[in-house]
Amino acid sequence: MKTVLTCAQPTGNLTLGNYLGAVRNWAALLPGNECYFGIVDQHAITTDYSPAELRQNCLRCVAQYIACGLDPESAHIFMQSHVTGHTELAWALSCLTPVGDLFRMTQFKEKTGSSGAVDSGDGAPWQNASLSGKPQPKPLMNGGLLYYPVLMAADILLYNADVVPVGEDQKQHLELCRDLAQRFNHYYSDTFTIPDAYIPETGARIMSLQDPSRKMSKSDANERATLFILDTPEQIKKKIMSAVTDSDSAITYEPARHGIRNLLDIFGALTNRAPKEIAAEFDGRGYADFKNALVDVAVESLAPIRQKFDELMENKDFLQQVLQQGAAAAQKRAWKILAKVHRKAGFLEPLR
Ligand code: TYM
Repeated sequence: MKTVLTCAQPTGNLTLGNYLGAVRNWAALLPGNECYFGIVDQHAITTDYSPAELRQNCLRCVAQYIACGLDPESAHIFMQSHVTGHTELAWALSCLTPVGDLFRMTQFKEKTGSSGAVDSGDGAPWQNASLSGKPQPKPLMNGGLLYYPVLMAADILLYNADVVPVGEDQKQHLELCRDLAQRFNHYYSDTFTIPDAYIPETGARIMSLQDPSRKMSKSDANERATLFILDTPEQIKKKIMSAVTDSDSAITYEPARHGIRNLLDIFGALTNRAPKEIAAEFDGRGYADFKNALVDVAVESLAPIRQKFDELMENKDFLQQVLQQGAAAAQKRAWKILAKVHRKAGFLEPLR
């Protein structure tokens, strides 16, 4: 039996990218594995946010996990902040992490618009930030955002996970996690399993519907760019029908044709079919026909999730119970690893 662990940030609405690149595949790993699925609220405070919204979003996230097929009887679903050990292990790991590596992480550079040089985090954006709106905005280049990948490594290593199912955008973070595990094992002694990333063949990188050179993201300013799994059939139709393709009306699956390729990837992932085979089926039929068929497939696939989500949100006590049980199981495992880490680090054991 392998230990599977993965997490997602508590966004109120999971995107189709989160679903196809991540959550759907987590459900497929349930049989025969010990599965931990975390909701990383501590990661969520690295950017500006509203605490009241975060609280709401966490419960919505649990409901969406379950609605997408993560059976809480078979998996441990927990909040990161409910388990002691994530931030503690992150501290120990951070003492083995060169800050230069963190400044060079792609997501850090993208989120902060920095060059990746160590001295780029000089606080200038913070000092220059407009103070007119209250409350004061967070420094963009805050230490939490820089150390985000170290906390992510701790999320994984705290459970000695064997397998970490993620979308392609998390590959670099996973590599850092493997490096840190190896570094810890060398510096102290063998402690951590070196985890493997599990990246799906189709759906690993769902792109924006409006700019298919960019990843589909929850925070896209263009509301037609992102499909959310809780979108109504009308919203799904509007977004898919207005998805950007190109001037060539033929339906072919080619690397350079980002727009139509992305739609074929989505079609393929939703129907478990090869995108090339779908392209062949629509050969000579034009975009409108193809998009209408994709709308039908998306509406049909997502309707049961929406319905189940609505039912679950009626029963918040149940959602809280799921989190309570998940945290208890996760904590039990986390204590063991944390005690080992403390021992190896040379921390004196307290009298109990
Ligand atoms: P997050 O919350 O951005 O995304 C959750 C999962 O969804 C995948 N994903 C996508 N897959 C395909 N196409 C897309 N457009 C797309 N957008 C998102 C992500 O790859 C991810 O698997 N840092 C992580 C959360 C995290 C974590 C962890 C993950 C924290 N600790 C430990 C694994 C293990 C994140 O921000 O994911």
